[in-house]
Amino acid sequence: MKLIPLSILVLQGLTVIQAAKNEVPKGSRGNSTTPLANIRRFLEETRIQNGIPGMSVAILHKGKLIFAEGFGKRNDREPFTPETLTMIGSVTKSFTAAAVGELVTEGKVDWDTTPVSKYLPEFEASDPVLTSELTLEDLLSHRSGFPVVDASWFYNTESRKELVKRMKYVKMDTKLRPYSKYNNVMTSIAGIAAANAVDMEYEDLVRQKLIKPLGLNNTGFSIKEMSKHRNYAVPYDAASFSDAKSGKFKQLSLESMATGVAAPAGGLYSNVLDLVRWGQTIMRYGEQDGNQVLSKDSVIETLSAQSIYSKGRRTPEFSPSLTYGMGWILDSYKGSGKVDGYISNLALFPDSELVVAHLTNIYSNALPEISYLYIADEILGLPKTMDWAQMAISGTQQWYDEANMALKGFIPERVKNKPPSHDLREFAGDYTDPVYGDLTIRVEKGHKGKEELRIKLRVFEGKLEHYHFDSFKTTLAYSVIHVTQLVTFVTGKDGKVTGVQVTLESEVKFQKKK
Ligand SMILES: *[C@@H]1O[C@H](CO)[C@@H](O)[C@H](O)[C@H]1NC(C)=O
Ligand SMILES: *[C@@H]1O[C@H](CO)[C@@H](O)[C@H](O)[C@H]1NC(C)=O
Repeated sequence: MKLIPLSILVLQGLTVIQAAKNEVPKGSRGNSTTPLANIRRFLEETRIQNGIPGMSVAILHKGKLIFAEGFGKRNDREPFTPETLTMIGSVTKSFTAAAVGELVTEGKVDWDTTPVSKYLPEFEASDPVLTSELTLEDLLSHRSGFPVVDASWFYNTESRKELVKRMKYVKMDTKLRPYSKYNNVMTSIAGIAAANAVDMEYEDLVRQKLIKPLGLNNTGFSIKEMSKHRNYAVPYDAASFSDAKSGKFKQLSLESMATGVAAPAGGLYSNVLDLVRWGQTIMRYGEQDGNQVLSKDSVIETLSAQSIYSKGRRTPEFSPSLTYGMGWILDSYKGSGKVDGYISNLALFPDSELVVAHLTNIYSNALPEISYLYIADEILGLPKTMDWAQMAISGTQQWYDEANMALKGFIPERVKNKPPSHDLREFAGDYTDPVYGDLTIRVEKGHKGKEELRIKLRVFEGKLEHYHFDSFKTTLAYSVIHVTQLVTFVTGKDGKVTGVQVTLESEVKFQKKK
C-alpha cells in the first residue's frame, strides 16, 4: 500500500523525475501503440518473468475504471479474472484504521488520548506506565515500541483475549524512538480494542462501518469464507525462482496465517475491482459517488504521517524518506501487503487521481510493489527513468534468496565428537513460554527404528538432529515458512533439563513444565 501524501512531496518527485528526462535515450518508450496496450504487454511479460501463476490489475484514473484485467490462472485450470478473489494481506490494515476512524468520529474512541487498555483491559505492556500511555494511534502507526511477535499469534487458534494477555510478557526496548517497527500484532490489538469499546467483534465493525455502506460486495473476512465463492485464487509457492519461472508451483493449504486472531492486520479477501473503489474513496477523503460516506477528518488522520518508516532515500524517484500514517505507507513510491500465498498492493496518487490495485496468487514475488510505477509512468506520461521490469525481477530474485537463506539457517561451525549431555528421552517433554505458548519435544521411532526427537510449536514441526553438545539442528516448517536453526537444551543446577532455546523472531527460552 502506498500513497503520495502531499502535493509538496509529489512536486519534489516530479522535479526529480523531470530532471532525469534528458538522459532517457530516444526510443526507450518502445513501439507503444497506447499506454494501456503497453501496460497489458508489460504485465503479461513480467508475470511470466517473475514466475507468477495468476494475477489481476485494475486502474482507476480521474474517476473512471480504465483498465481491469486478469493474467494467467487462478488455479490449475481456470483463468484469473478481475473478479477473482484473493487474500489482500496488509491492505487490510487500511480498513482497520478507517473503521477505528469512524468510531473516533462517533466519539466512541479517540486516536491519541485514551489508553488502549481502557478499551481492552486484557492489553497490558510489561511496563505499567506504557500501558497507561499507548493509544490507538500508537498501535496503528507501528510506534508502540513492541518488537515483532508474529509467531505468538499467527496460526494460533486460542481466543483473541487470551493472546492479548500475553503481551505483558513481551520484553520491550528501553528506548522510545520516532521510527516505526512494523507490527502486525499491534494493528490487530488496535482493531480488537476499538471493536471491544462498542461491544462488537472486529469483523462486524468493518462490515458495518465500511464494507456495507461502500458496497464492497466482493470483500470479506477469512480464506475459508473466500473459498466458498466460485471465483477465488488458490495460493501457491515455488521451491526456487527457476521452478517458478518454469511453472512448477506448489499449492498451499487454504489456511492463512493472518485469519482469526490476526485478522485486523491481514485477514480480508477482495478483488481488484473492490480495491480500486476503496482506494478512490480514501483518496477522496471518504467521498463516494458524491456522498460523504466516511468521516473526512478521520480519513485525513489515517493519511497523515505518524511515524518514520525508513530514513534513507533509495533513488531520486522516491521520496526523501518514508513515513507511515495508519494503515498506509506514505511515499512517492513503494510498499506492499503480504500474506502467505498472496502478494497484494494498492497504490494511490491523489494529485493525479490515479489508483492502481494489483493482486497475485504466489508468495515470493516483487511485481506488485513495482508494477504501479510502470503504470504511473504510462498513464501520467512521465519519462521513463527506470527499467521497472528488471527491478521486479531482481526484487523477486531477492525474495527467493532470502527464503533460501532462512532455509539454510545461521548455524555456527560444528564442534566434532561432542555428544549430548543427556539421554534423548530426557530432552522430551512439554515446554512453555508466556508469549509464545506451548512447545513439545517428543521421541519418535524414525529411520530403521532408531529413536529421534521431534519439535512441535503449534503448526510448525521439525525433526531434531544432534549437532554438538546439547544443540540440535532442525527446520521448523509450515506452509511458506521454513526456518533452519539450532535449538539448544538448557540444564539446571541439579543436572536436569530445564528449558530449550529456540530462534523465533528473537531467541526464546521455553521452560520445561513440571
Ligand atoms: C517498432 O516498429 C517498427 C515498425 O513496426 C519496427 O521496425 C521496430 O523494430 C519496432 N521497434 C521496437 C523497439 O519494437
Ligand atoms: C452491492 O450489493 C448491494 C445489495 O445487493 C447493491 O445495492 C449494490 O449496488 C452492490 N454494489 C456494487 C458496487 O455492485
